[in-house]
Amino acid sequence: MNKETEKRDWWKESVAYQIYPKSFCDGDGDGIGDICGIISKLDYLANLGVDVIWISPMYPSPGYDNGYDISDYESIDPCYGSMEEFETLLKEAHARGLKVVIDLVVNHSSDKHPWFLNALEGRHAARREYYIWKDAAPDGGSPNNWGALFGGSAWTWDEKSGQYYLNLYSPRQPDLNWENPSLRREVYEMMRRWLDRGVDGFRMDVISLIAKGNDFSDGPVGKSGYHDPRARIAANPQVHVYLKEMQREVLGGKNIMTVGEASATTLENAVLFSNEDGSELNMVFQFEHMDLDGGETFKWNDRTIPVAALKAVMTKWQTGLFGRGWNALFWDNHDQPRMLSRLGDEGDLREASAKMLATCLLMLQGTPFIFQGDELGMTNMRFTDLAQLRDSESRNAYERYTGDGTFTSEQMLHYISLKSRDTARIPMQWSGEPGAGFTRGTPWMDIHPNHVYINAEEQEHRADSVLSFYKELIKIRHRHSTAVYGRYEPYELENEDVFAYFRVGEEETLFVCCNFAATAVTFPVPERLQSKGTRHLLGNVEGSAYLEEGRLAAYEAVVISTDAKRP
Ligand code: NOJ
Repeated sequence: MNKETEKRDWWKESVAYQIYPKSFCDGDGDGIGDICGIISKLDYLANLGVDVIWISPMYPSPGYDNGYDISDYESIDPCYGSMEEFETLLKEAHARGLKVVIDLVVNHSSDKHPWFLNALEGRHAARREYYIWKDAAPDGGSPNNWGALFGGSAWTWDEKSGQYYLNLYSPRQPDLNWENPSLRREVYEMMRRWLDRGVDGFRMDVISLIAKGNDFSDGPVGKSGYHDPRARIAANPQVHVYLKEMQREVLGGKNIMTVGEASATTLENAVLFSNEDGSELNMVFQFEHMDLDGGETFKWNDRTIPVAALKAVMTKWQTGLFGRGWNALFWDNHDQPRMLSRLGDEGDLREASAKMLATCLLMLQGTPFIFQGDELGMTNMRFTDLAQLRDSESRNAYERYTGDGTFTSEQMLHYISLKSRDTARIPMQWSGEPGAGFTRGTPWMDIHPNHVYINAEEQEHRADSVLSFYKELIKIRHRHSTAVYGRYEPYELENEDVFAYFRVGEEETLFVCCNFAATAVTFPVPERLQSKGTRHLLGNVEGSAYLEEGRLAAYEAVVISTDAKRP
């Protein structure tokens, strides 16, 4: 078996950084992050060492889903700035060697998008077929029992035309009809215009769900009272036809990066999406590892991710895509609670656990995505009051589960503090001052009280900070091609505390060993490391006893390099 994936590409060698613009940096003092705020932090990002920034949507939007409900695909929402400012951002980012990837949200639009407003005019409206309409069921009810991800039915009744439209997320986000060639043409033209403007690629929102297929039958109902159709939709092979068309029409021959958000996908589909032949996308985000603590009431519980299951899932994707596709690696994003709060320690061992989690992720095969604040060891926000929440998903879930008596208000707020998307969407912690260096105004969302001691200013010049550690890790990825291309081999896969693996390259083998336990553990040192030529590349514990004594401190992580040619 090959030691390395053979095809070299810049986007494989890159480390990406996700900016959630509303919470990144507020340049004009209105409490909302904006483009001039991002520009002011480009030096920080270049200094961190990342290569690519992915910016979540900044398009005009009514804001029901915080920008993922777009009413104009070709402008900038004034709360973020102007198109001129966006162009300056591109220029300034490029001048620092940073590429800029933007969000493409074309599974659905906002219900305020002119296309949808036109579609509402009636059955014969020009853009009617840009959306998915169905007649009522014989009993007058919705066409099937599918549920929307943010609560309620996936079908909304339109009184005027006497039909339902499909909304897999919320009624404010009607699904686009990719079967319609004119819709596809308009989307491709819009994408071309962004590329002409100089963006370096797209992160494609729920791209796995664009092709709905013909099977609109009822399905098994969960605790929500509805059927979740996402797995069946994601299994429809037609999505690959559309992406190949998009490749031919827009993406082909361009030096860009494409990453699809592949909700509910399978490994085999991910191989097709990220095929080494380049016929679809570069890579996809999959979510199997994120869903390991889910249950009957979706994510609303206090379960944690079992480390052994996490290892098994990551191993499945690492080995399954090797030489066939490419992984996009992440612990966190704007839809997930922080991994540090899920599997690390928010107390005295916060920095150790943040560094351990970073090591574990950044040394895997794939392109790593750091979510803003990960590099500081930021933690989940705790919510004590519904009024602190901004995300409709959490608010709707609160209404639903407290409304039907499934959970008390206290329980639900507890689960929301553990799992809601708002936990990680809070403002970035730049300094310990009031406003956290994020804003001089009133922030759109509460700032975490721990910004007084968790902030970039404090970490910037401290050699043992989480931030400094990230810089070192990123350098290792850039300097050791094995960290990018080497084959992943798990070590002691059954161990429930330690996630350890080799990355086997042509010139070098890396050994990565991460203790997920809050206590010290013993862990066997692989025989391959007991030879000369072994170098300790990085670790989060000074005077580590691992190589000599086979002992790992709480949340210890080590990266060791050995000469691959040694027998
Ligand atoms: C995935 C995005 O990341 C999430 O924030 C959004 O709510 C849904 N897609 C719908 O666009």
